[in-house]
Amino acid sequence: MIEKEKKIYLETYGCQMNLSDSEIINGILNESGLASTNDIAEADVILVNTCSIREHAEQRIYGRLGEFKSLKKRNPEIIIGVLGCMGERLRNKLQGEESKGIGQCVDIIVGPDEYRKLPNLIHNAWHGERGIAVQLSRVETYDDITPLRTNGVSAWISIMRGCDKFCSFCVVPFTRGRERSRRLKGIVAETFHLAEKGYKEITLLGQNVNSYRDGDKTFSDLLKAVAEVDSQLRIRFTTSHPQDMSDELIDTIAGKSNICKYIHLPVQSGSDRILSLMNRNYDTKHYKQLIKNIVSRISNVCISTDIISGFPTETEEDHRRTLDLMNELRFDGAFMFKYSAREHTAAYSLHDDIADDDKGTRINQIINLQNTISREINEKLIGKTVVVLAEGVSRKSPRQWHGRTDGNKMVIFAEGAYRAGDYLQTTITRVNSATLFGTLPVLSANPNGGTIV
Ligand code: SAH
Ligand code: SF4
Ligand code: F3S
Repeated sequence: MIEKEKKIYLETYGCQMNLSDSEIINGILNESGLASTNDIAEADVILVNTCSIREHAEQRIYGRLGEFKSLKKRNPEIIIGVLGCMGERLRNKLQGEESKGIGQCVDIIVGPDEYRKLPNLIHNAWHGERGIAVQLSRVETYDDITPLRTNGVSAWISIMRGCDKFCSFCVVPFTRGRERSRRLKGIVAETFHLAEKGYKEITLLGQNVNSYRDGDKTFSDLLKAVAEVDSQLRIRFTTSHPQDMSDELIDTIAGKSNICKYIHLPVQSGSDRILSLMNRNYDTKHYKQLIKNIVSRISNVCISTDIISGFPTETEEDHRRTLDLMNELRFDGAFMFKYSAREHTAAYSLHDDIADDDKGTRINQIINLQNTISREINEKLIGKTVVVLAEGVSRKSPRQWHGRTDGNKMVIFAEGAYRAGDYLQTTITRVNSATLFGTLPVLSANPNGGTIV
């Protein structure tokens, strides 16, 4: 039997899939009788669920592992585990010399498809045995695991795992393996259960949700089925790939009032030459047409994107095209990154020829442009009344709360007679590029319907 009194601390980096995976990991640990703690000082086991998407993400985690190493120096009993994408990618390095001594402090390495083995690996580590489990699976979806959720208002459901797109810059197909979907029935049942427990917002997660399949059921079918569970439940999803977003899906989003009118649609570049080198399988013409289609079918839709700057061979002209596309399409928001070469990816064989300074100059131009556009779009909301889902006390001021519109815009408003999970109406008084500020809100009867009054 596994010792019950020991406590496990889990720290998470990376994307929403990783946050969702950490809830699955906690579910698995909890199921096997292991106790968790939020306080690293009382931890017997320190687990870190890691991300490999860019060099910087890994550097941060190496830094953190260095800190864990000093903790372990003081208390050699502590077990340290590296989980997730970096565990998968760096299994050899983490065990060997190249990790600059970090590897010596790592007792357990577990990839994203092997979390079921964690309780045993932890148990063995307590008996002095280092363990590694990094097999990728074609079938594992953790369908039967009940994630240990703590938020109470918003919940993630991973509907699929892995990715088969192989964008040339991206490490995900290597760290997470082949694409596979959970069964529709199980996802709907989980949504039902979460609604019963009082959750108000469900986000369906996958690296490319448009590829979801359960027999002949598509993502559009799944989204419809999930939205029909409870009309008081807000439904979100991420991420859609622009290559295969169907009209049927767009109509589903338009047709259900509780599906949030927000689509994250990464474009990556405004240059067709670069998009082709990125193996994105669409060009800017297709992307613009898709946006046109979305905007014409879904009223008040908000759209955000991802952009990579400084991909190998990107010229000033290619960069200009990205800025032009941003000016033309005017995204509500964007996540913007400097290209980071990742081993094993197709782009790794291309010379990473854009100097870091030039990547920096370009990304700053992109960020400045997006901030201006976001602020201008947000300014148009001043004086309008929006519906928000109250999420909790604002981090910056305890007398203020935060919530989001169905278009995923963050709103700050005064504390009042409401609770987390309530739908509220507030009138926007001022904005900046990232946040809206609203009046003291009143309760709203429904989650989204006519968000902008
Ligand atoms: N599956 C999602 C993206 C997951 S990664 C999708 O296709 O939309 C999130 C974002 O990180 C990507 O959209 C991309 O903009 C960025 N990214 C991925 N690999 C990168 C790399 N090697 N360098 C810089 N940014 C990268
Ligand atoms: Fe990476 Fe492309 Fe898959 Fe997204 S769709 S996870 S960017 S390979
Ligand atoms: Fe990072 Fe893995 Fe997510 S590489 S972005 S944690 S899928």
